[in-house]
Amino acid sequence: MNKLPRNIAVLGSTGSIGQSALAVIAASNGRLRAIALSAHNRLEALEAQSHKFHPRWLIASNPDTSKAYDWSTIPDECELVWREGGLERIVREEEVDVVLTAIVGSAGLAATWAAIDAGKQIALANKESLVIAGPLIMDLAKQRRVSIIPVDSEHSAVFQAMASGRQKEVAGIVLTASGGPFRNRLLDELATVTVEEALVHPTWNMGKKITVDSATMMNKALEIIEARWLFDLTPEQIRVVIHPQSIVHSFVEFIDGSVIAQLSPPDMKIPIQYALNYPYRHAGPAERMDWTSRMAFDFEPADWDRFPALALGYEAARRGGTTGAVLSAANEAAVSAFLRRRLRFHEIVPACQSVLLAHTFDANPTLDELFQIDRWAREEIDHWVCTSSR
Ligand SMILES: NC(=O)c1ccc[n+]([C@@H]2O[C@H](COP(=O)([O-])OP(=O)(O)OC[C@H]3O[C@@H](n4cnc5c(N)ncnc54)[C@H](OP(=O)(O)O)[C@@H]3O)[C@@H](O)[C@H]2O)c1
Repeated sequence: MNKLPRNIAVLGSTGSIGQSALAVIAASNGRLRAIALSAHNRLEALEAQSHKFHPRWLIASNPDTSKAYDWSTIPDECELVWREGGLERIVREEEVDVVLTAIVGSAGLAATWAAIDAGKQIALANKESLVIAGPLIMDLAKQRRVSIIPVDSEHSAVFQAMASGRQKEVAGIVLTASGGPFRNRLLDELATVTVEEALVHPTWNMGKKITVDSATMMNKALEIIEARWLFDLTPEQIRVVIHPQSIVHSFVEFIDGSVIAQLSPPDMKIPIQYALNYPYRHAGPAERMDWTSRMAFDFEPADWDRFPALALGYEAARRGGTTGAVLSAANEAAVSAFLRRRLRFHEIVPACQSVLLAHTFDANPTLDELFQIDRWAREEIDHWVCTSSR
């Protein structure tokens, strides 16, 4: 795709990834254009973005908050879309070239699906879409000849390193993990973690849900599942190592023993820019590596006892079917309960595990069945939160 400007629909433009994407678009010298922007609750931020980027469509995806908002000052050329189904409608518009899926959680799945169905190139930040419905999404992408370019820094690294060989020459991949804020905490110290402590990530500045997921290492569990479907790997081909500096974003190991990695400062603008411009590279606004100062890279094995989420990630990657959807929804609900101080930090993963154990496994669910099981898993967590002793 070499048409200029390339029209980008930024779904979730008010979030951490969305804002970084707009910084990339603003610095693109007109090569990229934000043709659609969306927000759910931060409507003032969305309105401010409309004045800066003049998108063709402004999508306020939460009808409850958007109905009451005063939209009278948005630019004349912006069409406001606030009715249910707006995201799914706009991503299908002919003028849209690339859809950046930067909505958090399972709320991103329907629009990701619609965009693939409409044949749009996807810059995929919403990892939950692949965690929930990996095989269905990859099948649809194949049928519609759609490229899914990962935005997750680890998967972007793997995607770039994979270009050094052929799929059948890949022995495996190594996903790096910062280890989060509690990398060095003892197991029994995790019981006293507060919301404030969990929201401070040592290397990345991200939305609340993924920041908590990084602290429990559920984020890495979700990334194992994402990688399994995106790169068509077996779970045995995927390994996790702790790399506290977050500079080496992941590796691909080839059958001849060569290991190819991708490095950059921990700045999401780099993988976002790669995905939006793919297959081209351009100079951008992200920080660069400083090769004049001394640096050292550490790698250490992940501690499965302190971070049991990793085992759940492998289980979901191995079993497939409904398992990813249950894990993703249970985790989203558990993290939300933790942020509302209704669940303790060290209970998030056991709560997810108990919902996984209780669910009726289906090896080949439809998309509708996955949406249903998502609702069921959230209810189970609500029940777990109400009944667990504290
Ligand atoms: N942040 C990172 O560095 C990073 C790295 C790799 C992958 N990711 C992935 O990228 C996605 C976004 O992460 P983030 O950190 O950018 O999250 P975030 O800062 O919380 O932003 C989430 C965005 O989604 C919108 N949103 C929330 N609930 C919604 C709903 N029900 N329907 C439609 N839109 C909704 C939000 O709108 P309002 O703000 O208006 O409520 C916001 O624009 C996640 O899947 C995450 O795993 C993020």
